[in-house]
Amino acid sequence: MCGIVGYVGNQGNCVRVLIDGLKRLEYRGYDSAGIAYFNDGKVNLVKESGKLENLSNVIDVEKKSNLGIGHTRWATHGKADKCNAHPHKIGKFTIVHNGIIENYNVLKNKLIEKGYNFSSETDTEVICALLDYLYKTDKDILKCIRKLNEILDGSYALGIMCDDNPDELYAVKKNSPLIIGINDGENYIASDVPAILDKTKKHIVLEDKDYAKITKDTVNVYHDGKEKRVDVKSFEFDASSIDKQGYDHFMLKEIHEQPDVFKKTTNPYLSEDLDGLIEKMPDFSKYSKIRIIACGSATHAGLIGKQMIERYANVETLVDTASEFRYNKQFLNDDELVIVVSQSGETADTLEALKIAKKNGNDTLGIINEKGSSIAREAKIVLYTEAGKEIAVATTKAYSAQVAMLSLIALNISYSKNLVNKKEIAEILKDAKSLPTHMEELLQNEEVYKEIANQIKEYNDVFFIGRSLDYALAMEGSLKLKEISYTHSEAYAAGELKHGTISLIEEGTPVVAIVTDDNVASKTISNIKEVKSRGANVIYITNRNDEEDQTFYDSKIMVPKVNDLFSPLLTVIPLQMIAYELAKLKGCNIDKPKNLAKSVTVE
Ligand code: M6R
Repeated sequence: MCGIVGYVGNQGNCVRVLIDGLKRLEYRGYDSAGIAYFNDGKVNLVKESGKLENLSNVIDVEKKSNLGIGHTRWATHGKADKCNAHPHKIGKFTIVHNGIIENYNVLKNKLIEKGYNFSSETDTEVICALLDYLYKTDKDILKCIRKLNEILDGSYALGIMCDDNPDELYAVKKNSPLIIGINDGENYIASDVPAILDKTKKHIVLEDKDYAKITKDTVNVYHDGKEKRVDVKSFEFDASSIDKQGYDHFMLKEIHEQPDVFKKTTNPYLSEDLDGLIEKMPDFSKYSKIRIIACGSATHAGLIGKQMIERYANVETLVDTASEFRYNKQFLNDDELVIVVSQSGETADTLEALKIAKKNGNDTLGIINEKGSSIAREAKIVLYTEAGKEIAVATTKAYSAQVAMLSLIALNISYSKNLVNKKEIAEILKDAKSLPTHMEELLQNEEVYKEIANQIKEYNDVFFIGRSLDYALAMEGSLKLKEISYTHSEAYAAGELKHGTISLIEEGTPVVAIVTDDNVASKTISNIKEVKSRGANVIYITNRNDEEDQTFYDSKIMVPKVNDLFSPLLTVIPLQMIAYELAKLKGCNIDKPKNLAKSVTVE
């Protein structure tokens, strides 16, 4: 989603720093970009629609400047054109903004009455006018920013420049992340770590409604009119994660990282026995119910988690989509554990759902990839997945790390309740050990995935079917395909087909049928036969050696048979790879699909 970078220093290289920073935020998804910088005491504003390249082409990076702000915009209010691109300037204030101002219309009308004119459709321009208006009556910028916090509803991370103070950069945030990067003789603001990672590791994380005045040598953070003591932290970040390292796309690189991610995520808990699961994790066996809340692929990981927890730990587990949960009537039991799952730790709906659960008094657990993110800070307990930085918008390695962590939680409860016996434990540990090798084997089948992608590329609709665990996987496979190859697809519970969807099956319609879950395998195979007999081209993904009947599918991808707890981590690889190969064949922008953002910080 939108990205912010800001700089104040003394080297005169502000323009270059801003453009470099924005490049590093490109992966978040955006549709226009712009920068504002002081040059000879005057604000210069340059913005362009489309890719950052369009902006770089019209900017002189050698232009001398010591202070500026930059932005990549993912359109919310008003179309993705140059006029709506950030920064916006009204009166003395130039601003970049991530988030959504919910009361901007009311404010806009009031400001029009006061004589302000607006040229864009954005909510951000309203903030510029409001700040300018407040500043006219009180020349203390910090007081004015504090007032903004009282007036604005919604979410915002703001980088602010004032015409009167060309040496001072201002920042404020609520429900949208913003950090301040610290260095000798120069300081930064950024909405996301990569923007400034090559410049400094030292940073301050702003809390909601914190605001700051930043000069090249000083950073002062305030909350509610009082200066605040802040911790300066250091990023732990592997710079190789923002390099493709020879792969054509970040997505492919990240798919190939899954064996390693599995080891990193599970090794601390799975050693010679399962003791690590109860020593290094809290005991989750005291809860009578578990609720998993997330968005997108993280919800799909949650659906697998539900199957695992219910099967292995015998605890009822509900899964909610955060954007629905937050506005539904809620029935949270007091002894219910609420698990929020998020790669970025910044997804607005998931964060809000977490706050609701906390307010209700529930224990909350965050399964998070981004260390120190908003959700990680808000949750009572945090278990970090060790996927490393994920750059491709379509999640792959972070999704599988979430699935792995949920399996560990199922096992934690099961072990602590004595529901697994010694033999099962030995088998589970053996499978965990062999999993990375099996993943590697599946990653070798590139030609097979290419061939399937070739078969389905002429079709406008693809169906993914499965039951139970396999249905949850079907949803993830279908989302991946839609997201990056722009091919319409539906995931269906195989047993539901004949209640409507089967009418769409025609000669050649691609149906990806997943059968790995023994509990329901024979039932799903009957459903596959139903689509096959209506002309479907069945791509069968399975871990079964059912050689005796080869009549119900057209192509078969074998995945190694392992314990249910880890099996989805294998099955998902062909699904990810088919989506990847199809997107490649269709010439799509695989790492940055259109209209999408990596981190969805607005609801
Ligand atoms: O950062 P999060 O895990 O909270 O993100 C949730 C979804 O936005 C995310 O999984 C999205 O569905 C992916 N782009 C799918 O590949």
